[in-house]
Amino acid sequence: MKKMTISALILSLFASSFAIANEVNIFNARHYKADAELYSKFTTATGIKVNLINGKAGALEKRMIEEGADSAADLYITADAGRCGAFKAKGMTQSGLVSSTIKSSVPKSFRTTHWVGVAKRARIVYYSPERVSGAELSGLTYESLADPKWKGRIAIRASSNIYNKSLVASLVKNNGKKAAGEWAKGVVANMARDPKGNDRAQIMAVAAGEADIAVANTYYLALMLSGNKGPEQQEAAKKS
Ligand SMILES: [Fe+2]
Repeated sequence: MKKMTISALILSLFASSFAIANEVNIFNARHYKADAELYSKFTTATGIKVNLINGKAGALEKRMIEEGADSAADLYITADAGRCGAFKAKGMTQSGLVSSTIKSSVPKSFRTTHWVGVAKRARIVYYSPERVSGAELSGLTYESLADPKWKGRIAIRASSNIYNKSLVASLVKNNGKKAAGEWAKGVVANMARDPKGNDRAQIMAVAAGEADIAVANTYYLALMLSGNKGPEQQEAAKKS
């Protein structure tokens, strides 16, 4: 499981250049404590005030599209390279992310001149230790999820989800369109149930015995284990 999805940051200088402004408006779809700390350090170091406009990615994007050139957005921070690419494809970003700091801090494959990755996340396979053996898991790759040995055993959320879109995009890039298409058919044939729910729901399906393996991002396991999503999810997380 070497491939990664990444969280990314899009720089979008619609109205003003924050290089000369004393504040920056960030349309923010990422809601982590660490990010808030980062912004306050940025303000301390530069004297530039950070105004956060928080929301879900879809709502923020809709607002920026509607506001167009009048948008107050300077930066858009969201999750997943796929989402950044799609927003860029709509003509909603500007190029200019070419500073030496960006170039020296972010590997080439995680940035364009329109958006820059700021965090990496892994999309992994969860499994039931009761129903899946170590031998079955050996040599596991995304590609091998299409192997008929997983027939009726996989839980994965819908293909319309951005994490899965990015996963498929990586397979198209690495193996070609035809192979990725065949892979998708193979995975569908292996599904334990019709796709439903979010990443955590796939882990729950494994815990409930509905599926033997599930595809979900790593941090959801930590979220479930924390108990913040309730005792049912906490128990389920302990089982995969
Ligand atoms: Fe997520």
